[in-house]
Amino acid sequence: MKRDIERILIARGSIADRVRALGESITSRLEDVEEDQEIVLVAVMTGSIIFVADLVRHLPMKLRIQLMTASSYVGKSTKSNGDPMLGKLPDVKGKYVLLVDDILDSGKTLTRIRNELQTLEPMLIESCVLLRKKIDSAKCVPCEYVGFEIEDEFVVGYGLDYDGFYRNFPDIGVICPE
Ligand code: IMP
Ligand code: MG
Repeated sequence: MKRDIERILIARGSIADRVRALGESITSRLEDVEEDQEIVLVAVMTGSIIFVADLVRHLPMKLRIQLMTASSYVGKSTKSNGDPMLGKLPDVKGKYVLLVDDILDSGKTLTRIRNELQTLEPMLIESCVLLRKKIDSAKCVPCEYVGFEIEDEFVVGYGLDYDGFYRNFPDIGVICPE
């Protein structure tokens, strides 16, 4: 696996520090939310698995974790092809929703999920991504918590995949061109 990675973009130590800081920001923000307000963290599968697992350990409040699937890539592609396919929507009616995904690229996935969840009448939806690409379409999508801004290149590791592989790579890196 290692020889397929051209270079490390964000090392595991920096990821851990940033995830902790994100957890702290979300926690202080949620102190403004009423104590009896139900909180649901919606994790977009599969890319967010490792990020979510680490992030929730910095969120001490009472909350539920719901998984939701979204897929926009087919096989060996590094460009999303059109509208993402969404799985079953979680029950968010009246709840504070923290939507968590690995990366904000074109923004189609997050926009689509946020719009769909909005129809279920949550109290409020906020989004959190570990990475956001420095492209105009990504910047236009509302996202309250962003871990790192990265250049427009394809990255893998820490949950992010290429053709299903490299999710278990502990750092975030750029793969060798074929
Ligand atoms: P968007 O709909 O274009 O914003 O794409 C978001 C989804 O595509 C993310 O949830 C990721 O699963 C995937 N994706 C986008 N860019 C990358 C990347 O650089 N590496 C791996 N997956 C990516
Ligand atoms: Mg994804």
